[in-house]
Amino acid sequence: MSTPKIQSVRGMNDVLPDQAEFWDLFEETIRSWLKSYGYRPLRLPIVEPTPLFKRAIGEVTDIVEKEMYSFVDSLNGEPLTLRPEGTAGCVRAVIQHSLIAQQAQRLYYMGPMFRHERPQKGRYRQFHQVGVEALGFDGPDIDAEQILMGARLWGDLGLGGISLQLNTLGQSAERAGHRAELIAYFERHSERLDDDARRRLHSNPLRILDSKNPELQEVILGAPQLIDHLGAESLAHFDGVQQVLRDAGQPFTINPRLVRGLDYYNLTVFEWVTDRLGAQGTVCAGGRYDGLVEQLGGKPAPACGFAMGVERLIALIAEAGGETTAPAVDVYLVHQGADASRLAARVAEGLRDQGIDVLFHCGGGSFKSQMKKADASGAAFAVIIGDDEATAGEVTLKHLRAVGEQPNQQKRVSVDRVADEIMNSIVDWEES
Ligand code: HAM
Repeated sequence: MSTPKIQSVRGMNDVLPDQAEFWDLFEETIRSWLKSYGYRPLRLPIVEPTPLFKRAIGEVTDIVEKEMYSFVDSLNGEPLTLRPEGTAGCVRAVIQHSLIAQQAQRLYYMGPMFRHERPQKGRYRQFHQVGVEALGFDGPDIDAEQILMGARLWGDLGLGGISLQLNTLGQSAERAGHRAELIAYFERHSERLDDDARRRLHSNPLRILDSKNPELQEVILGAPQLIDHLGAESLAHFDGVQQVLRDAGQPFTINPRLVRGLDYYNLTVFEWVTDRLGAQGTVCAGGRYDGLVEQLGGKPAPACGFAMGVERLIALIAEAGGETTAPAVDVYLVHQGADASRLAARVAEGLRDQGIDVLFHCGGGSFKSQMKKADASGAAFAVIIGDDEATAGEVTLKHLRAVGEQPNQQKRVSVDRVADEIMNSIVDWEES
């Protein structure tokens, strides 16, 4: 009987080399995009104290109620949680290291997040986010800048069909007035609510507005609107954001039902949504969270940010027909015979010194079988060294793919010239 295989945890995926190379390229694009807006990287722990998330995200949210991977550290009894999102940890770090004592900060992080949701296309239990946070800014200009950053990134990635939904959640006092009216309204219609909505009626009635249950849509449509409870300042902030978006020619839809699944938001909230990914179409989401720094023990400071779902964006790039595999190495080094192999090792290092990527054949075998591997590797060139070449201090350089008019050309080149020959051919290749 064979030993049973161990599989990965449901909803937690391996990213295999063809894909992972593309992830690397994607992350490079992301880093230079963030740098172009003056954002600086942060690397944060994956595990945080459980109370951090309860306090930041809110006790009565899907994430805290049913999706967190929480456990007690068996060595010291500390309650810990695998981070379900990055904002709480980022704010914790900013407070802990007094990062905004001197000046406002634009920060970003990327990495895995964990939520015990029902896995489906675009929804995983381990997924990856790029999180972008600006702390210490209070005007609508930064909200708008963050929204417009998204638009630029979609352009850089060659993505179309991502639309912007916008809403304001006002301030907590304004939400309290709305909340009282909302509870009274839903109580009058309680027979039309589902179990989830009834459970939320007194704890988090705003979230009922976000329900996807088709049977609730009519009663939700008639519910009191938060916008009617907003004061002049909140309205001015919302107008300010919209003004910058309009000036930039960025279309948006105001969606009064956009309330977000985390409790820390106030004023601006937004989501970038596509209909090309099925049910999980939100690729990027965020908003303002002016109360969170104080709520986590820091000196009050305004803040706003957003996070993007990496798996969803990469799926969208693939769906749009974009390249999702990275190019292979430049050279496959084929060699046979003791002297040839010794020379080959030197040639490989010499090529790498010149910035040429080399896959050095390991494991012996005939020239024929090595050449097959060279072809399959996707390399642009084979550098071939046998006894003949070794004696002459030369290599055979073979184009594995056609360059211009000359398919599969091959020629002998002296060892000192091989790097130059390859560099020139790469230039010809790029120009062809
Ligand atoms: P969120 O809306 O919970 O916000 O997540 C942001 C994005 O992460 C989503 O729009 C989606 O693309 C991706 N995402 C969330 N859950 C999953 C999942 N189970 N599988 C795959 N992708 C997923 C936040 O997390 C906030 N921290 C955003 C933020 C930053 N707000 C202010 N600053």
